[in-house]
Amino acid sequence: MEKEAKKAASLLEEGRSLLSAGGWDKALEKFDAAIADDPGFLPAYYAASDVYNSLGYKPHALNYLVRAFEAKPAARETIVKFIETVSGLSFRVPVPSYRKVIAESFSFDNVDFQPVESAWRSILQNDRAFGPVYRALAHPDEDRARAQFDALPSKNALLDPMFLEGLCRIRLADSGFELFLSRLRCLLLEDETRGETHTLGDEPRTRIAQALGQACFYTDYLFDVSGREQALADALRAKVEKAPAAPDVAVLSCYVPLHELANAGTLLTKFGKGELAALVKLQIADVRERHALAEDIPVLTEVEDPVSRKVRAQYEESPYPKWLALSHRGHVEAREGFLLDGAPKILVAGCGTGREACDLAAAFPNAEVLAVDLSVASLAYATHRAKKFGLTNVRFAQADILGLGALDERFDFIAASGVLHHMDAPLKGWEVLTSLLKEGGRMRIGLYSEHARRFVVEARKAIAARDYKPDSEGIRRFRHDAPKHLKKKHYKTLVEARDYYSLPECRDLLFHEQEHRFTIPQIRQALQTRGLTFEGFQVGGATARKYRKKFRKDPAMTELDNWAKFEKKNPQTFVAMYQFWCKKS
Ligand SMILES: C[S@@+](CC[C@H](N)C(=O)[O-])C[C@H]1O[C@@H](n2cnc3c(N)ncnc32)[C@H](O)[C@@H]1O
Repeated sequence: MEKEAKKAASLLEEGRSLLSAGGWDKALEKFDAAIADDPGFLPAYYAASDVYNSLGYKPHALNYLVRAFEAKPAARETIVKFIETVSGLSFRVPVPSYRKVIAESFSFDNVDFQPVESAWRSILQNDRAFGPVYRALAHPDEDRARAQFDALPSKNALLDPMFLEGLCRIRLADSGFELFLSRLRCLLLEDETRGETHTLGDEPRTRIAQALGQACFYTDYLFDVSGREQALADALRAKVEKAPAAPDVAVLSCYVPLHELANAGTLLTKFGKGELAALVKLQIADVRERHALAEDIPVLTEVEDPVSRKVRAQYEESPYPKWLALSHRGHVEAREGFLLDGAPKILVAGCGTGREACDLAAAFPNAEVLAVDLSVASLAYATHRAKKFGLTNVRFAQADILGLGALDERFDFIAASGVLHHMDAPLKGWEVLTSLLKEGGRMRIGLYSEHARRFVVEARKAIAARDYKPDSEGIRRFRHDAPKHLKKKHYKTLVEARDYYSLPECRDLLFHEQEHRFTIPQIRQALQTRGLTFEGFQVGGATARKYRKKFRKDPAMTELDNWAKFEKKNPQTFVAMYQFWCKKS
């Protein structure tokens, strides 16, 4: 056995040498030989998968990971790599091997499943059993949807563990699936009030509703509710506040967060263990814990600037974003590798709910991370997450970037993602951050792109013209009316944005108090003025391949003139944001 492992390891090394000399096909032969020699030798599968990934052949890359999973199903690294590789893909036909990996991966704790959203959804939509249930309920006409659903010979697919566990771990981001879930929610509610003639029966209904309740909570109850449905939900609330029974509580959690109920404490005691445990933890215990943590958030600077105050008010009401697990990237970004040495100091400015700060603290355990934001509610969320993941090298404090100039500390790395463009004077904020960076230190900045956000500009115009308010009612109404107000192409881009599918995030996307957008020439100018060197955009493999093919003389991908041309041709490249590194030199 040991001899086999040795042989496989040396074949892997030979393959790696061939790869660095540019011979990927010969390298693959070596990796295959290593696998043949020792089918349990996972690094060889990973190496082959990485080769195909870098070439853009995702199905080949995934197949090696499926084989690695089959060889050793308990290996977390395989799951992480599979998730990273399947990210953003969707499938038109059932792919049983991918389904198996995704379904079984749900037994792993603290894994970020968000990247599998489109794969998970498309596998379910095309599943032989789940597909008909989905298509029935997602029919555009409500009466037809109900009639088709009632006519189905079996509804058991709704109990598919891959569906239910996914609902608790993945935040949906698709208009068809949203319609399906909102119909399912209504059905569960109506069923609840039908007494003896339940369509689904008590036990299955509770199982489905507790998972759907978690999904609805993640959206902050964004789904449309008809007047009749609201009346039924109100009646159910009164019933639960009087005499809570598990099926009722589960269904009600799809309409209202349980911590708002008068008897939330009783629910926590009664259902803290058993089938509703995860639901009451999410909707009651965690919320209470965050409220308590908010009391103790330290204050580094006052928030006096009028725009900062408005922005703070928005994020106190709507902390951004809700996130569930660390991102667990399978790699450290090349420009951040230097943070592995020594004991670097990191500042996360405008950390929101702390995802980036926690990711950095986890990736660089020797680092000391200071993360600041205007919003105490966001910082409480962040502190709660850091505690959950056992991170002791990150501290959170309330501060306005404008006031940070008074800090004595200097940092090796500063991250400010999606923040500066929400300030009255973004360049002033950037100036303050630059003054806090050590010589030779790096920043990762995220800024909105003027080109990519045409659809948001149009949506903001429609919102302002018709005075949709940035509250749940206004946001729901705008979403409902958006197809009327927006050109088809803008609406299409809008519904592809993940932020469209939860209330706080949709508010952030379309209803922000303050938003600036940038162009690449403006970024170049701002970098020059601050003595910062551009070090590259953070882009996916497909974009990098496309850029390199077009601009062969810029293998480092750091020529901003080229990027400006590239963006003009591919205006959606930076639809999420320009995310880039720069260095103080
Ligand atoms: C869109 S959220 C981004 C949060 C986080 N960086 C992320 O990427 O998940 C913007 C955050 O910037 C914060 N912010 C905006 N202006 C700020 C300022 N002047 N000082 C500190 N934080 C600010 C807001 O409170 C909000 O939490």
